[in-house]
Amino acid sequence: MNFKFPKDFLFGAACSACQIEAGCKEGGKGEDVGEHFYTVFPEKYFGGDPAKAADFYHRYRSDILDMKEMGLKSFRFSISWSRIFPNGPVEICQAGIDYYDDMINALVEAGIVPMFDLWHCDLPYWVIEMGGVLNPEFIDWFGTYAEVCFKHFGDRVAYWSTINEPSINIMASYAYGANAPFMKDMGAAIQACHNGILAHFKAMQIYKKMNLPGKIGAVIHVEPTYSESHDPKDQYAADRRFAFYAGWWLDPMLKGHYPEILKNDAYIMDKLPANFQKELDDNFVKADFMGVNFYNPNHTKHSDTADMGYENYKNEFMPVDDYGFMYYPQGLFDVAMYFKNTYPGTQIFITENGIAKKKWGNLEEERKDDYRVRYMREHLREVSRAIQAGADIGGYYCWTIMDTNELYAGGFNYIFGLVQVDFETKERYRRDSWYYYQKVIANGMVD
Ligand code: NOJ
Repeated sequence: MNFKFPKDFLFGAACSACQIEAGCKEGGKGEDVGEHFYTVFPEKYFGGDPAKAADFYHRYRSDILDMKEMGLKSFRFSISWSRIFPNGPVEICQAGIDYYDDMINALVEAGIVPMFDLWHCDLPYWVIEMGGVLNPEFIDWFGTYAEVCFKHFGDRVAYWSTINEPSINIMASYAYGANAPFMKDMGAAIQACHNGILAHFKAMQIYKKMNLPGKIGAVIHVEPTYSESHDPKDQYAADRRFAFYAGWWLDPMLKGHYPEILKNDAYIMDKLPANFQKELDDNFVKADFMGVNFYNPNHTKHSDTADMGYENYKNEFMPVDDYGFMYYPQGLFDVAMYFKNTYPGTQIFITENGIAKKKWGNLEEERKDDYRVRYMREHLREVSRAIQAGADIGGYYCWTIMDTNELYAGGFNYIFGLVQVDFETKERYRRDSWYYYQKVIANGMVD
């Protein structure tokens, strides 16, 4: 079998502002949730002080030249809302606009296609103070911010994503306390998620009115969910879990309604506002594409006792990386086929995929990442196989271009980057995987 890619396939890498920029007090930036809550409870952040990240804020021009040398076709990054609106939803910070303007120019000059998220884990802290995503005014704040970004950068940004991983950044942050505002209230979570979807539509509507040359969608964390057995109860539990986790976003964004399988599910649906379908109908704009973050599968079985009616079970046959992600490259093929069958006509991008090891403290050894080379090869093969089987996949973005601050999920303790960052000096070093990816891109195929 030959693992080729189409000529215009976007071989990319991704990262986000709050995970590599630092420069937290520069350029008029306002405080974001990571910066704020790191000072309140550093233990929740594993010591991951956002101010000590890779300093992309000052080094983006040389980092982008390095991407160019690798041959990278596209870079997925995010705009920090608190650099554009530092103090509230009204006053715009010109220095923030100038900063991203120059970064986007540097990408275009390097021949690298920019893909930008409007919100990737880093709400401004003022949003939380003013009631967070739970406050329906969030929809307008987000719309205003989106409009400013489209106006200033929309002539050059080819792909926009409104929200990255809302299953974590909204649902799990309000229902299970995963990220700010660290709430544990399913009722609040469902309401916040609904507002998040309306905020996504708001940005979509504004973008479409502006007649810009790019495309706009969102980035969803998709875990193919497998059932423990043939028992219809387990199968139903797996489908329901998938619907609640991923379909909850994909169906409204691509079809304008919540997943059918949840329709009669009082535990979830009764927590939505009474007129939720009218709000979806009145505001729906179909996403142009979907970004898919793929790391691991999920295994689900029926449960009589769990609130949600399902629980996870362990699959002993799948190895797990240091970060806790199970390896199952074929899951990526399954996800691509799921899109082909469920949302025909929708192009997807694999917007994140990567593997992490826990740092052990020897910088030289940590550059030899044959485990990442193998991981990339196996996953890229699945992408190629899916394309050959008819899936419409426009690109693949390795997570991540350089070592990150994993914030509330692990601070600086994990190695995710094609480029190593020495966090003492901020010097960059290419890992073996950097050279491997360079070869893949140059050959337009994976071995
Ligand atoms: C998904 C998130 O979008 C990203 O911010 C995070 O670093 C990776 N997963 C790895 O956990």
